[in-house]
Amino acid sequence: KNKKRREKKMGEEAIANVLVFSVPIQGHINPLLQFSKRLISKNVTVTFLTTSSTHNNIIRRATAGGAAALPLSFVPLDDGFEEGHPSNDSSPEYFAKFEENVSRSLSQLISSMKPKPNAVVYDSCTPWILDVCRKYPGVAAASFFTQCSTVNAIYIHFLRGEFKEFQDDVILPAMPPLKGSDLPVFLYDNNLCRPLFELTCSQFKNVDDIDFFLVNSFDELEVEVLEWMKNQWPVKNIGPMIPSMYLDKRLAGDKDYGISLFNAQVNECLDWLDSKPPGSVIYVSFGSLAVLKDDQMIELAAGLKQTGHNFLWAVRETETKKLPNNYIEEIGERGLIVNWSPQLQVLAHKSTGCFMTHCGWNSTLEALSIGVALIGMPAYSDQPTNAKFIEDVWKVGVRVKADKDGFVTKEEIVRCAGEVMDETSEKGKETRKNALRLMEFAKEALAEGGNSDKNIVEFVAKIASWFWSEQRENNWSRSKFGD
Ligand code: UDX
Repeated sequence: KNKKRREKKMGEEAIANVLVFSVPIQGHINPLLQFSKRLISKNVTVTFLTTSSTHNNIIRRATAGGAAALPLSFVPLDDGFEEGHPSNDSSPEYFAKFEENVSRSLSQLISSMKPKPNAVVYDSCTPWILDVCRKYPGVAAASFFTQCSTVNAIYIHFLRGEFKEFQDDVILPAMPPLKGSDLPVFLYDNNLCRPLFELTCSQFKNVDDIDFFLVNSFDELEVEVLEWMKNQWPVKNIGPMIPSMYLDKRLAGDKDYGISLFNAQVNECLDWLDSKPPGSVIYVSFGSLAVLKDDQMIELAAGLKQTGHNFLWAVRETETKKLPNNYIEEIGERGLIVNWSPQLQVLAHKSTGCFMTHCGWNSTLEALSIGVALIGMPAYSDQPTNAKFIEDVWKVGVRVKADKDGFVTKEEIVRCAGEVMDETSEKGKETRKNALRLMEFAKEALAEGGNSDKNIVEFVAKIASWFWSEQRENNWSRSKFGD
């Protein structure tokens, strides 16, 4: 009888109540919102937490992108900044004030909730949310990593003192030998913003204490590293967190992330792609944050022109002034420049032949899930490591070779485009074959019973279990929840 009652409950009522927090940048909102949708599909009630300085903008964007129609609510936490304060402010003062205010505001929210949430799923960049969760026994803390396990493992080895900053050759367990230029940029480039480096390292400071270690990746991508990580923490892959329509199609109508902080020129891109032959277009985009140096932008523009291929290039508004004069007239019908593209639709379009990317983790996962070959031109953060794996481990593309100052010549861009766009060359055939193979694994991961799907089901079952609710109700002293 009890079992029957439980089954009924699973089918019809929310079985858990979760708060989800993302820092307000596109590359983090996308996977965390996608994870929220997966939780909702498993009968979980989700409240998506924004920050007061971005709340109105996010609500406006969520309404435009359809996320506001989802059965989730958006609740602001006071971050202590005026509306419109740049969320890419990287000053130590910003981070300190952000932490203090968001912690207090989240605490107030949880205190006021009856019943308490079963869990807070938070961006791994805000590890101090664990301390807030710990004030409320029974509220599980789930840290969500928006970068892959390989990158996580590299930081962990670094923090354990197994190699030093700016080191040229690094040998680590469960991964191929790495050159300095394959490491996350913060570990190799001396000139980078120190507070951001510290923020990135802080993601790992309390991983021994978190209840759930969730990673936006899938098992077949990082078999050895995942095993190494799992020997120490109950790491669970739940990715790729891209809209269901490109994977298992089980979430009806889920074809967009649903919150875009930029205005995509959808019709312009799709109409232009429709006018081009299959596989003839290089799609170029460097994500929401990367900033190219002026001379690099001019060289890239010249290189793309010289490839002889069609190209669709997403150049954010703040970057357009770096384009050469008269460039748009010069490229004519061969090229389309937009400020923001509907990237998933572009990648899935039959005219797209390859993707020249900065190797942001979301862009990488999107290309792998849709089976598109890549040209990696990494810029920042975890991107060089992703590019290394794209070329040498997954073998789904090539990586541009930069000179010692990080500059990439137009000849190099032409060389890489030639290699990847030629479907008949050995390289062209190999990258396409591997991309399609990984695409199948990505789809399987989130299909019913796939590894990532099982991990999400297990996560929901655990937070909804009697253990957590007893903790919440009785205020017991915590004991670690075993795997
Ligand atoms: C960052 C980091 O680069 C990434 O490695 C980290 O792990 C997450 O945050 P970002 O640099 O913006 O994000 O790149 P990426 O991770 O690729 O995310 C960009 C997102 O914007 C993608 O989901 C992509 O589909 C979308 N996008 C990008 C568009 O929709 N249109 C565009 O024109 C460009």
